Amino acid sequence: MSNNRVLTGITTTGTPHIGNYLGAIKPAIEASQQPNAESFFFLADYHALIKCHDPERVARSTQEIAATWLALGLDTDKATFYRQTDVPEIPELTWVLTCMCSKGLMNRAHAYKASVDANRDGGKEDLDDGITMGLFSYPILMAADILMFNAHKVPVGKDQIQHIEMARDIAGKFNHTYNELFVLPEAQVDEETQLIPGLDGRKMSKSYDNTIPLFCSSDELRTLINRIKTDLREPGESKDADTSTIFQLYNLFANTDESAAMRREFENGIAWGEAKRQLHEFLDAKLSAPRARYNELMNDMGAVEALLLKGAEKARAEAAPLLDQVRIAAGIRPLTYVAPKAEKAEEKKKELTPEEIARIEEGRRRAILRPVQHLIDAVAAADDKGAAAAALIAQKEQDLEGLKKKAKQKAENELDALRIELAQYL
Ligand code: TRP
Repeated sequence: MSNNRVLTGITTTGTPHIGNYLGAIKPAIEASQQPNAESFFFLADYHALIKCHDPERVARSTQEIAATWLALGLDTDKATFYRQTDVPEIPELTWVLTCMCSKGLMNRAHAYKASVDANRDGGKEDLDDGITMGLFSYPILMAADILMFNAHKVPVGKDQIQHIEMARDIAGKFNHTYNELFVLPEAQVDEETQLIPGLDGRKMSKSYDNTIPLFCSSDELRTLINRIKTDLREPGESKDADTSTIFQLYNLFANTDESAAMRREFENGIAWGEAKRQLHEFLDAKLSAPRARYNELMNDMGAVEALLLKGAEKARAEAAPLLDQVRIAAGIRPLTYVAPKAEKAEEKKKELTPEEIARIEEGRRRAILRPVQHLIDAVAAADDKGAAAAALIAQKEQDLEGLKKKAKQKAENELDALRIELAQYL
């Protein structure tokens, strides 16, 4: 199998914003265009239920995020693009993995710990107040998302790194307990796109209410850009481009020349109002074509639904055979199932070198001799070692006579091992 399988998901609780676009969707689409890329992108709608109990919002967000990926040019023939809830193998795998995951691992999850801390800080008596089992165990669902497709790389924000590590832990536990079925995934974090500033200069994030929706109308875009915080520098006063949210947003969409030109304008003291006007004009020009496609798609949900269902079919073609193997490995099998045993045993034997076989045999002999080591020591310490060794073997041969079948086998093994051990004296 290739090792360039990339998978990522977006939780369907909000409207895609410029931070999602630059930080996740744009790099993912670009990576999926590489010739040997194998991409799995999905709408994490089961994840939405963890933090949002507003059905209209979840449904709307699912439409918006689906339309966004498509409007930005995702090639659904090349990438596998699907909705999590269209792949029932994922929740089924979640349960198997839940049984491979220690509760302690989940106790350490940042999201859960943050909620417990908030309860403690709020003086709540019950530290688990308001925390659902969904929130508590959601890293396991996320592990299933990833392991179900044996993804190697998972592009995520910094806050998600711990979840990828947990997915590795859980995969390792399964592989060790049952069978090596899962690839251990790795997080891929792009430092540069971690720093997309929002309207107030902090990281752009739904939770700070400082986002710019990617496909808002041109007028709305202007209004939001006008809300960007600036300092009190007058027109004509030189301004520091690098600490300005206006410049940073401009820069993230600009090529080298455009970016250098804007930087000069800042040095030359462009007025904040003019800088905002230019940012609006620039972003509006960049976004107007995909925005038009987005609006078309939002008015043609039948087409989007059809693409998602096709994607789910592709995803299930990957997921179902792996889930079958998982179930079989864990002992969930048709009653008539017969393991391909002979073949397996032979394969295993073939894999062992003569040295390995000898080492295993020697280990077995040592284990048998351990309880009679004192007898061997006594032979080694005797004046006439030959006579002592012969006497011990004779004694054991005689013991053997009076034994029942099972005990006899054991004694025979012991006798064989002793003969070899004492051969030096005999
Ligand atoms: N939990 C992720 C987030 O909040 C979204 C997500 C769900 C995800 N499943 C995933 C990301 C699997 C990568 C891989 O951002």
